[in-house]
Amino acid sequence: MTIAVTGATGPFGRHAIESLLARGVPADQIVAIGRDQAKLDQLHELGVTLRLADYDDPDSLRTALTGADRLLFVSGSEVGRRIPQHQAVVDAAQAAGVGLVVYTSAPKADTSGMGLAEEHRATERALIDSGVPYVFLRNGWYIENYTAQLPVFLEHGLIGAAGDGLISVATRADLAEAAAAVLTGDGHQGRVYELGGQSFTLPVLAAEIARLSGRDVKYTDLAEDAYAKALEGAGLPAPMAAVLADSDRAASQGALYVEGNDLEKLLGRPVTPWSDVVRAALAQLA
Ligand SMILES: NC(=O)c1ccc[n+]([C@@H]2O[C@H](COP(=O)([O-])OP(=O)(O)OC[C@H]3O[C@@H](n4cnc5c(N)ncnc54)[C@H](OP(=O)(O)O)[C@@H]3O)[C@@H](O)[C@H]2O)c1
Repeated sequence: MTIAVTGATGPFGRHAIESLLARGVPADQIVAIGRDQAKLDQLHELGVTLRLADYDDPDSLRTALTGADRLLFVSGSEVGRRIPQHQAVVDAAQAAGVGLVVYTSAPKADTSGMGLAEEHRATERALIDSGVPYVFLRNGWYIENYTAQLPVFLEHGLIGAAGDGLISVATRADLAEAAAAVLTGDGHQGRVYELGGQSFTLPVLAAEIARLSGRDVKYTDLAEDAYAKALEGAGLPAPMAAVLADSDRAASQGALYVEGNDLEKLLGRPVTPWSDVVRAALAQLA
């Protein structure tokens, strides 16, 4: 059985390929797909087949998916352009006769009021309409979204607009391992998994960073507009600042809270505790 992985040059895709290999999938049955040859070449050491394809280039997608039995379709990163891009992936999977498409979506994508969920909702709809067998992995927020900013948090504290909204986080590695479990397992077709680990509010995250670092780290809650302006002031392009502020606003209303324990069930073990990830990330800074 050949398993193809798009977005293989990103950290999530790479984790997924490593998890597939760890589960015993032979390297010659894995096809890593990316749009950048230099980044693809960095996967050479894994021994998997490397194929170049761009979500903006339907022909390249059809060629890259030839012979794939299953596909891990990692959502793209070009927010605002993903509806046609993802439609092209769905069309190519259909044309190539892929037997199962496992798509990385967003929490409660079908009903979410978070702007970022719109393109995921459209992609889920495109997959349903295509008739291609699918699984939706509605991945919760990566804890790495926060740990990547630890130096800033230690220096300036946290700001956001998520109020007391609970945010269910998990490592990319855990979410990718769950994807590998679905890709190598049976009985998942048509299932929708809401995937998240333990939850925190941003004030709780700030308090834990303070406790673990011994530094004075506090969370300041801002209105959505003020948070967007602050992010712009920190150098983010206005559209990205607006998307992030909207995500926080939605999180304040529960959009990033994941109920149930789908992730633990797919992993067959407890989800990595976020506090452990924060502790390890702080240790790396020391
Ligand atoms: N749950 C969360 O907290 C969260 C946070 C951020 C993102 N995400 C979603 O999860 C996905 C995977 O996460 P990640 O951390 O690995 O993201 P990432 O580092 O942005 O990787 C995205 C991957 O998609 C590829 N890609 C983007 N546009 C493409 C195109 N037009 N054609 C072909 N490939 C394209 C990228 O290729 P290049 O390497 O060439 O750019 C890369 O391999 C993201 O793309 C995004 O949809 C989720």
